[in-house]
Amino acid sequence: MVAGSSAVLAGLGGWLPPRVVGNAELAARLDTSDEWIRSRTGIAERRVVDDGMSTVDMSVAAGGRALRSAGVDRVGAVVLATATPDQPCPASAPQVASRLGQGEAAAFDVNAVCSGFVYALATAAGLIAARVVRDVLVVGADAFTTLLDPDDRGTVPIFGDGAGAVVLRAGDPGEPGAFGPFDLHSDGDQAELLIVPAGGSRQPRPVEPRDRYLRMEGQAVFRHATTRMAESSRAVLDELGWTVGEVDRFVGHQANVRILSTVAKQLGLPADGLVVNIDRTGNTSAASIPLALVDGVRDGSLRPGDRVLLAAFGAGFTWGATGLRWPDLDVDPL
Ligand code: ACO
Repeated sequence: MVAGSSAVLAGLGGWLPPRVVGNAELAARLDTSDEWIRSRTGIAERRVVDDGMSTVDMSVAAGGRALRSAGVDRVGAVVLATATPDQPCPASAPQVASRLGQGEAAAFDVNAVCSGFVYALATAAGLIAARVVRDVLVVGADAFTTLLDPDDRGTVPIFGDGAGAVVLRAGDPGEPGAFGPFDLHSDGDQAELLIVPAGGSRQPRPVEPRDRYLRMEGQAVFRHATTRMAESSRAVLDELGWTVGEVDRFVGHQANVRILSTVAKQLGLPADGLVVNIDRTGNTSAASIPLALVDGVRDGSLRPGDRVLLAAFGAGFTWGATGLRWPDLDVDPL
């Protein structure tokens, strides 16, 4: 890479809605239990948006913290990874940019569902490498609970809402915080395994009322997620020239603690190298990796100089991975 053309992590922030929904609250209205949810997913509680709170609201809160962490007021572009924009049209990123006082900065959404944050990082790194802009605010935010059938015990315990954000600036490939390489893939043949059938151009209005909700084949998703996250991680490690033993921390999309430990096992990573916060967030889709990064910094598991591997898997299917050496950052707690 040419000097000045790498995307370097310069700031990090996250935000969770205040309403906490514990497993006991779900067990009181669904045919489930705290024991089932904890043992099958690792989740104890999740945060849920109140009526009227949106993806843009959460993105503004997380984005403001990331800008403060980076010590900058303005960026050249805002890239928002989300599958739950405030409206189907227009994209939500321009509203995030306006509310954060970003003037006429370029702003657009990226939808790769739970892989969205890794896809958005790669997109932002491309904008910097092509010298379109010098710095980018990348936000991963989802109000995924708005897509769930409130009576579906198969999905309600798993998902939560939230937003995480990073500021990337142009820098050199050898610097701490320089992202890359990126490995990104998709398989649209598997779209039906994790889908909201209605609300798009194919089925604008639900034929059946439940068509407006997320449908998930949990076991199939589990199998694909573990295989693909491990494959993508290996591809990035090869490119970086890192051995598995040299990875200090693995920050995977927080879909299920069993998915994370299976990926670690497949890669040969020790379980204590995982950064895990799904116990108190649930699966927050595009927000999950930056929220885990915030918690990792705050609890001391991510330290300057650490070799960090990130990997994600989401509906589509989409998946991807990247790596970086952790920089020194000041980060507010969630
Ligand atoms: N409480 C109690 N029982 C339940 C619940 C619940 N909430 N949900 C399902 N069950 C039952 C099932 O009905 C089944 O009962 P049966 O044996 O009588 O038929 C039993 O529990 C076992 O069900 P499984 O589906 O086999 O449970 P599994 O161990 O596979 O766990 C889970 C299910 C947690 C959904 C798991 O498959 C998983 O995590 N999959 C991946 C999901 C995921 O990560 N999705 C997000 C991907 S990222 C994105 O882009 C959004």
